[in-house]
Amino acid sequence: ISKGLLLSHNVKLRFASYYGNHMVLQKSPERAVLWGYGPEGAQVTVSLSGLMKQQTSPVTVTNGIWRVTLDPVAAGGPYNVTANIRNSSATLTDVLFGDIWLCGGQSNMLFNMNQIFNSSEELALVAKYPHVRPFMVALNTSETELKDLIEVAIPWSVPTVMADFSAVCWLFGRYMYENLKYPIGLVESCWGGTPVEVWSSSRALKQLCEIVCLIPIKHGPRAMHNSILWNGMIHPLLNMTIKGALWYQGEANANYNQNKYNCSFPAMIDDWRMAFHQGSGGQTALDFPFGFVQLSTYEKGTKDDGFPNIRWHQTADFGFVPNIRMKKTFMAVALDLPDATSPYGTIHPRDKQDVAYRLTLGARAVAYGEKDVAFSGPFPKLPVACNETYVNITFDQTVSVTPSKEVFEVCCLETLAPCGPKSPWVQAPIVQWDQTTILISATVCQSLQVAAVRYAWRDWPCDFKACPVYSASRVLPAPPFITSCPSVKGGIWKSYWT
Ligand SMILES: *[C@@H]1O[C@H](CO)[C@@H](O)[C@H](O)[C@H]1NC(C)=O
Ligand SMILES: *[C@@H]1O[C@H](CO)[C@@H](O)[C@H](O)[C@H]1NC(C)=O
Ligand SMILES: *[C@@H]1O[C@H](CO)[C@@H](O)[C@H](O)[C@H]1NC(C)=O
Ligand SMILES: *[C@@H]1O[C@H](CO)[C@@H](O)[C@H](O)[C@H]1NC(C)=O
Ligand SMILES: *[C@@H]1O[C@H](CO)[C@@H](O)[C@H](O)[C@H]1NC(C)=O
Ligand SMILES: *[C@@H]1O[C@H](CO)[C@@H](O)[C@H](O)[C@H]1NC(C)=O
Ligand SMILES: *[C@@H]1O[C@H](CO)[C@@H](O)[C@H](O)[C@H]1NC(C)=O
Ligand SMILES: *[C@@H]1O[C@H](CO)[C@@H](O)[C@H](O)[C@H]1NC(C)=O
Repeated sequence: ISKGLLLSHNVKLRFASYYGNHMVLQKSPERAVLWGYGPEGAQVTVSLSGLMKQQTSPVTVTNGIWRVTLDPVAAGGPYNVTANIRNSSATLTDVLFGDIWLCGGQSNMLFNMNQIFNSSEELALVAKYPHVRPFMVALNTSETELKDLIEVAIPWSVPTVMADFSAVCWLFGRYMYENLKYPIGLVESCWGGTPVEVWSSSRALKQLCEIVCLIPIKHGPRAMHNSILWNGMIHPLLNMTIKGALWYQGEANANYNQNKYNCSFPAMIDDWRMAFHQGSGGQTALDFPFGFVQLSTYEKGTKDDGFPNIRWHQTADFGFVPNIRMKKTFMAVALDLPDATSPYGTIHPRDKQDVAYRLTLGARAVAYGEKDVAFSGPFPKLPVACNETYVNITFDQTVSVTPSKEVFEVCCLETLAPCGPKSPWVQAPIVQWDQTTILISATVCQSLQVAAVRYAWRDWPCDFKACPVYSASRVLPAPPFITSCPSVKGGIWKSYWT
């Protein structure tokens, strides 16, 4: 509660800022948490009217705040939700129960429906999805962890004018609605140009990562420093029950604590999970599903501007998710969706439809447990086999291959040793392939020995949907990878069995 609010008997009964008409509350089996403000000491009950009725036992307003947890409500609606005290009440109308997804990150999550390809067609479709409801948190910073939002940018609404809403978030909600056929609530809370550290609590930043660089950095409209958006734009939401989160961020860490991202990003996910679980009194799952977009492209021709490392670090250096470090996560690979002529800069590709669609495949498999939904592109079985002629890469699934001379590279050394970004990498052509195996030429190393192989390890590795390796259906691109040949002692890259 903000310091200005007096603990008074005259405080009007009301809900917290992010409860409103037309909202979606989390459906069963979880229970929705509702809270708000009221006259000190008053007894508050909350009742639900609509398809069924429900009334909570009374709770007492303490320090100006009341809070209730509803019994589980099945998907559907509409309901009216009314908070009552003896002589006054506050009502939320047209409330639906469904799944709430929180959408966070930086400018590519903020990238709105007005800016994407086919914008007018996509906006015209919005009205056909009255059960997918948007809400957007205003861009605000705070030095301390806030209980409630400073400001709401877009209140809960039946979607009509959606030009300013996140395209990835909206399209994800729309595609999931087609699949689930019940209401979806979308909570957008993101800000352009922001590094992961500003979205992380000080508790998360203290974990292992030893973030050494605490110098305030200038990004966006004001100087940003650690935890400032966690405090103002995420912490207030902890008390709401949510189904899961989506995240599109990492560009701002390509030049800022880049080599910590393999720790700071998984640490933030763990911390959000713990905090949302605690804030909702155990309703939001402790391992709620967390989906994210692997970085797309920025500068064509640039060899290493940090994007390849961030993509790898987004997976905690496994190359794929979920993995033992990042459980119940899913990833949309996007490095094959470049947009050389984006009027918003090449760092903002306009095809968000494929990004959102790939996220929904991950959500269906990981969050909703649908069997047989393919959501990960081909990944090599490790270790790869290397000899003086070939690197033999066997994938975990059937591959669709387009021959390429450039996108695979081998590291050529006189004496075998682990390879890193500064090692001598040489482009190596695909010379042969079948359903699951690709042979890369190692003769490009000439008299030297091949020590490692990497794939798509540059900012902008291929043209639009034209990378060399896709799933058999061509829907899912192979994510980038880097791995040592097995004869290299102490190869630095993690593999399946570690
Ligand atoms: C909710 O309240 C509105 C306005 O008071 C009323 O018109 C509507 O019928 C109510 N809906 C339900 C489901 O109770
Ligand atoms: C409700 O009752 C409280 C005290 O019981 C009083 O202070 C307040 O003014 C009343 N509000 C209304 C709207 O009558
Ligand atoms: C919060 O953000 C809004 C716009 O998003 C801005 O108008 C307002 O000044 C900000 N308030 C604070 C306290 O930062
Ligand atoms: C993260 O990456 C850095 C350098 O890229 C490496 O030194 C470190 O061991 C990695 N940490 C983890 C937790 O994987
Ligand atoms: C919301 O959750 C936070 C974090 O667990 C907690 O400190 C705060 O008291 C909760 N607020 C309400 C209104 O329950
Ligand atoms: C835009 O619409 C055209 C025509 O329907 C379609 O071929 C294309 O795939 C759409 N683009 C995106 C990014 O969805
Ligand atoms: C090198 O590897 C290729 C592909 O696995 C294999 O066909 C070939 O026999 C190997 N050559 C040698 C000399 O081991
Ligand atoms: C490549 O390796 C796989 C798995 O070990 C093996 O089945 C296949 O025969 C190899 N390919 C060639 C051409 O040697």
